[in-house]
Amino acid sequence: MTNDLEVLLAKADAELQTLQTEEELLSLRTKYLGRKGQLTALLRNIAVIPKERRADFGKRSNEIKDILSDRIDVALKEARNRKRSNDLLRQRIDVTLPGRRVHYGRLHPVTQMRREISAIFSRLGFTVVEGPEVELDYYNFEALNIPADHPARDMQATFYIEDGIVLRTHTSPVQVRKMEKMRPPVKIISPGRVYRHDSDVSHTPMFHQIEGLLVDRGVTFADLKGVLTYFFKEVFGSETVLRFRPSFFPFTEPSAEVDIRCMLCGGCGCRVCGQSGWIEVLGSGMVDPAVFKYVDYDPEEVSGFAFGLGIDRIALLKYGISDLRLLFENDQRFLEQF
Ligand code: PHE
Repeated sequence: MTNDLEVLLAKADAELQTLQTEEELLSLRTKYLGRKGQLTALLRNIAVIPKERRADFGKRSNEIKDILSDRIDVALKEARNRKRSNDLLRQRIDVTLPGRRVHYGRLHPVTQMRREISAIFSRLGFTVVEGPEVELDYYNFEALNIPADHPARDMQATFYIEDGIVLRTHTSPVQVRKMEKMRPPVKIISPGRVYRHDSDVSHTPMFHQIEGLLVDRGVTFADLKGVLTYFFKEVFGSETVLRFRPSFFPFTEPSAEVDIRCMLCGGCGCRVCGQSGWIEVLGSGMVDPAVFKYVDYDPEEVSGFAFGLGIDRIALLKYGISDLRLLFENDQRFLEQF
């Protein structure tokens, strides 16, 4: 029986010499030393061996197990090294290949437009301030001279959070909040999101406005015209033509809407300007004395102008975008163009 062990060792050794790869060596190990392997099978016969030789047989079989296991380990290590050097030889790095292109993100067109507009007014000395999007009825309407039963509330399709709390329908409430906190001179602009339930090619339920407010001694409508004319020429070029059209807002008196001559048709009339030759871009006016009363400014001493413009609308015109809703679909193919 001990002889069987020697035969097994010799056989395994001979086989070992012929093997090359890791996989072959691993299956050799299973074949001889595994739970169902040949050495294990021999050991199962220990019962038929005469008692006095059992100890020798056991000892030798343990030795053979160790010898074989060590030899296979050595061969495995060699096989792995061989494979590694082969791989290294074969896999060369081609340093002349072009690199992977880095994909740069871009600022959203509305963000670009907002920054551009803010920069222009900053150059004129306006400070950028912000206010809350969830707003008290008081600031969104009441203190802007729009009492509860005022028909002007219908002009702005309001989202109500609860009684007395709304999603602001315009950025004008920021005027009141700032005037409450500071004394004239006030020279601010306030960009931000506003909400109205409206949705078509030129309306989205959320859009962006920039509010402007200048209050000081002796501010006149001429100042309003001067600032806005300068602003639109900065955005659309020095050829831009403006028209101030009488209008109504409860918080300004007199009020004017500003149109610019359609840059697409030059004023002849086209689809973009609805054949009128003019495009409405902004609401404005001289701050109504009634608003000053709410913030404790003396209308005998100070006067001011205010305006509110849609950032998205300006972006549409500036970049030649045909549908406002494209701005908010976040289709990368669209956004990447800016
Ligand atoms: N808040 C007005 C609107 O959203 C715009 C406006 C602002 C008009 C300031 C006059 C003065 O329609």
